[in-house]
Amino acid sequence: MISLEDIQTGNLSSERREFLRKSGAFAIMSMFGVSFFTSCSEDETPSGNNTNPPSGSSGITVNGNQITVDLDVATALANTGGWALVSQAKVLIVNVGSSRFNALTSICTHSGCDNNWAFGSNVFTCRCHNSRFSTDGSVLSGPALQPLRSYQTEVNGRILTVDLG
Ligand code: FES
Repeated sequence: MISLEDIQTGNLSSERREFLRKSGAFAIMSMFGVSFFTSCSEDETPSGNNTNPPSGSSGITVNGNQITVDLDVATALANTGGWALVSQAKVLIVNVGSSRFNALTSICTHSGCDNNWAFGSNVFTCRCHNSRFSTDGSVLSGPALQPLRSYQTEVNGRILTVDLG
């Protein structure tokens, strides 16, 4: 299970980081089109539906070539439009509705930024140079020219599995 210490919090101040750690914030960056910038933004406020998962737990486990998400814990992914950046695996996950999820590499095909993403209106934006990608990884606008690699996802009950193989 990814602990809170493993979660990238970008340029958050140490006080803010400590607050988030204590309040149970986790790798879920935002949902419903509200952005959370992990490195280049001045905005230090993660948004979205921050419920309080069990202390030290995000509901997301990275094990080898597999990510497992407990949707009862990672609640920001539980609803359509919810998304997460799993920094440890460099993967973006988005709930596209009807119990379907897309998983994409977070390594931007433009010049490799992997941790500076925003999501809104079904568009992932790499904040490094503002390349925009659809939820299936295809390029909507450059400078990126190549799509983001996508990964197989599967949902069983309340467990989402992403196959990185
Ligand atoms: S690295 Fe993503 S747009 Fe440049």
